[in-house]
Amino acid sequence: METLKQRILADGVALSETVLKVDSFLNHGVDAQLMYEIGTSFKNYFEHHQVTKIFTIESSGIAPAVMTAMQMDLPMVTLKKQSSKILKDDLYQTTVHSFTKSTDYQLTLSKKYISKDDHVLIIDDFLANGEAALGAIRLVEEAGAKVAGIGIVIEKSFQPGRQLLVDKGYDVYSLARISKLGSGIIEFVEE
Ligand code: G4P
Repeated sequence: METLKQRILADGVALSETVLKVDSFLNHGVDAQLMYEIGTSFKNYFEHHQVTKIFTIESSGIAPAVMTAMQMDLPMVTLKKQSSKILKDDLYQTTVHSFTKSTDYQLTLSKKYISKDDHVLIIDDFLANGEAALGAIRLVEEAGAKVAGIGIVIEKSFQPGRQLLVDKGYDVYSLARISKLGSGIIEFVEE
């Protein structure tokens, strides 16, 4: 998505060879117009994938997911991050490890927001190691539902997440694919 790539080049800051700061439009400040255009791109790609529901992971996935849900006219559900396991019959939970933040959390979904007939599109802001996406997939599949696809705003293609998901047979569509980060360097995968 050209507008997104240009925005990353203009306002993104490579903090290291692995971390891209995009606080001005995605992770802290949110550019609603850009989020709308992101929603349009996901809709254009996924509209024939028989999606019934859109899932995201709090908190930075919410803005792109809600814009996609609005344009696809679908319900949206935010998967919650709890610090500890809650033993309740009406919840699905799975442990997710974040390599970027060196923490574990319990990704949590209430059973009332999914049924086995659902085809779920998972949307998130970043794809790094794929742990968050794999956690969301586990919850969907534990409910007996299907994953219709995975939509990512910024993929760090030099990290293993994308390949892991593709190797498991999931359709991963990323709007900006970064091949390299470094001091003053932000490069995209040539497509
Ligand atoms: P993974 O799911 O692909 O394995 O990624 P990981 O756990 O390593 O990422 C943990 C958190 O860090 C996620 O945010 C993810 O969006 C974010 N993240 C990963 N790489 C980058 C990066 O290069 N730049 C920025 N800005 N964020 C990155 P989170 O903890 O879910 O936070 P939030 O959604 O509440 O913002």
